[in-house]
Amino acid sequence: MDFKGADILSVNDLTLEDVKHIMEVADEMLPYASRERITRVLEGAVLANIFFQPSTRTRVSFGSAFNRLGGAVRDIIGVSFSSIVKGESIHDTSRVISGYADVMTVRDPKEGAVKEFADATQIPVINGGDGPGEHPTQGLLDIYTLYRELAQIDGMTIAMIGDLKNGRTVHSLSKLLALHKNIRFKFIAPPKLQMPHETCEYIMDKNHNHKIVTVKDLAEGINDADVIYDTRIQEQCFESEAEFQHFQGMYKINRNIVKKHCKKTVLILHPLPRDSRPESNELDHDLNGLRNLGIFRQTDNGIPIRMAIFALVLGVVDKVHKSSRQVEWFVPKQIDPEYPEEMRTLLVKTDKKTSD
Ligand code: CP
Repeated sequence: MDFKGADILSVNDLTLEDVKHIMEVADEMLPYASRERITRVLEGAVLANIFFQPSTRTRVSFGSAFNRLGGAVRDIIGVSFSSIVKGESIHDTSRVISGYADVMTVRDPKEGAVKEFADATQIPVINGGDGPGEHPTQGLLDIYTLYRELAQIDGMTIAMIGDLKNGRTVHSLSKLLALHKNIRFKFIAPPKLQMPHETCEYIMDKNHNHKIVTVKDLAEGINDADVIYDTRIQEQCFESEAEFQHFQGMYKINRNIVKKHCKKTVLILHPLPRDSRPESNELDHDLNGLRNLGIFRQTDNGIPIRMAIFALVLGVVDKVHKSSRQVEWFVPKQIDPEYPEEMRTLLVKTDKKTSD
């Protein structure tokens, strides 16, 4: 794929080679993402960071990634603060904003809406999540996390848990994993929230010897997994509170369950936010401090991946280091008090470990 000027709308557009290239560029971004060095390569550039649905990680990390490259960020948060509430179309909104900014990141509750933004402009548009559709940059940071944490991606068993129907992150991650070989997917969900047929078909159509197992029972699903990828029941997607409550708290994972049912080396991921209300408690806080819990290393990886995407679509990868210098402000040796023995995780580079 020629990234310069490209939109990043769906992982369907990416080959394994593209994914590896993004990860290589992300590795190049590590000194800047981990606050060792500064680069000003995007000085003068403006990002329009448009979020019409709630977000902490995606919105802030898009903004921080752009800032760490030296660019400025304009946040447009909540549709009620945009002129779409006055009847303006997505087409007009996108065309207007592309006169003000060099790149757009968009989250919208409607599947396909981010493509409508992209169709109305020549500046790159990056999908920050479109309804139950896709979340390509989350999928990329998830796969980057797997590359950094596991000895081998090919041949692994991954248990995806929760709302696999409405959770866009599992759709994007499954499709990226499908580019690899011999993956065992264990989809743990009640039948009504199982992985969409279209995603399963996409995986199997790759003909890379993947296997899909669907189960309802948590213990049966996680017992031989190398990776647990837990997800939130997507409350906003249900028609009634009663329907949501029927599924809420169906899968609760805590330290005892991990000890009793999982491999010792299991890696536990979650795109976050985890729903920590007692009725849900899908990923218990008693897991905090376990090396197996990779959720914050995973969120940290959002910065180098999103920096890589900006550098690629704006065509400055080979210029990043030219304007580079040492950071001069205070940066703590560890950013996470629950893992005091670890240096900042971003400092460790990816070791490329696929079989080809
Ligand atoms: N993972 C993720 O998309 O989180 P936010 O909704 O906080 O952006």
